[in-house]
Amino acid sequence: MRDILAPEAARWRRFVDVFASVVEPAGYGFILPPLLEDYGVFRRIGDATDIVSKEMYRFTDLGGRDVALRPELTAGVCRAFVQHRPPTPWKVWCAGTNFRYEKPQRGRYRQFEQVDIEVLGVEDPTLDVEVIALGWHFFAALGLRQVELRLNSLGEPADRARYVDALRAHFDAGRETLSEESVQTLDRNPLRVLDSKRAPDQPLIASAPHMQEFLGAGAADHFAAVRAGLDALGIPYTIDARLVRGLDYYLRTTFEYAGATLQSAQNALGGGGRYDGLVEALGGPATGGIGLAIGVDRTLLACNDEGVFPPLDLSVDVFVVDTTGGGEALAITDEVRRAGRSADRAWDGRSMRAQMKAADRSRAAVAVIVGDDERAAGTAVVRPLRTSDAEQVVVPRDELLDHLEKVLT
Ligand code: HAM
Repeated sequence: MRDILAPEAARWRRFVDVFASVVEPAGYGFILPPLLEDYGVFRRIGDATDIVSKEMYRFTDLGGRDVALRPELTAGVCRAFVQHRPPTPWKVWCAGTNFRYEKPQRGRYRQFEQVDIEVLGVEDPTLDVEVIALGWHFFAALGLRQVELRLNSLGEPADRARYVDALRAHFDAGRETLSEESVQTLDRNPLRVLDSKRAPDQPLIASAPHMQEFLGAGAADHFAAVRAGLDALGIPYTIDARLVRGLDYYLRTTFEYAGATLQSAQNALGGGGRYDGLVEALGGPATGGIGLAIGVDRTLLACNDEGVFPPLDLSVDVFVVDTTGGGEALAITDEVRRAGRSADRAWDGRSMRAQMKAADRSRAAVAVIVGDDERAAGTAVVRPLRTSDAEQVVVPRDELLDHLEKVLT
């Protein structure tokens, strides 16, 4: 787990603001689901997934409840839907911290942030298109260009079950060539073997049957409508029959956005799909559901790689240097801030030299300097710090704010 400090941390907040500016105009309402849920809520992500079987921060609380820190947002949002029964379509967005006990590496952390949208109560395939398109437009809003959209359909539960049987038979027949890890995965979840990046597994993965061949008429029609919608919006994608995702609740449409600048094990910037059975599994009525989550940590790495969405410049407008004891600095910073400009100051009655150094370090646009002479004369010195040719001027104290406004604009 990492500390994210200034100015980087401000960029995280802005990331969420940009996401809000894309999804709120599309009718998504912000919600704040809890970080902690009953373990049973997350178990619906799938007993056979790494997330549930190996990576959960799970413990018994002081009341004896079996709880866990959330590894993602979707299951909790569906639990909230079942509990509050809002009118459908329920279109929501959220942002926040998740926990997975993974092997940390670049782009993969045990505590990480996601932004997320979910829609409950709609089966229409053009909603899938809306959700996928919002993710796509969000990356564009950040300035990212090297993003690839991968699309697949996992079919209806019955289609998927037939496919899993076929995959199991395929991998079983070549079991002795598979890596030890994949042999174990095969027993739990043959779909996940498709996701293996290990060299010995590749020949059998390449010759594995494709999900597309197992889609029944319903899922095939739905998938065709999603593709037609993306085509109509001019959003490019590739069909990736190996795209299985790491969570078990998906059926029909699944998708991922891959960052072309990142290593393949961590190149998924975000992803999502349909999970029409999840609300029912949590005790609610049969309800269509689809959503997506975008990883903040990883997407910012991709932004760094592409040189877009830079960290904010957090420097202030005005830095006050006060050698009279600090009273002037207190008053002037307060006035400047109330006038809508940013201001900072030095502390602890340091020397003029030390305060001027602090002013330079702050990268403020101007320094306001008040010594005993200025205080006695009712004036202040205004010295531009970023332009070498601009002269400093002495201004009457009661004209200081007007003067600063002129200099700063
Ligand atoms: P996910 O693919 O597990 O999907 O996670 C979505 C994104 O979160 C990933 O593409 C990645 O950017 C980021 N992420 C996941 N794990 C980590 C990690 N350990 N460190 C850093 N970033 C990470 C979901 O979570 C689903 N709930 C998405 C969804 C929403 N499906 C339907 N609705």
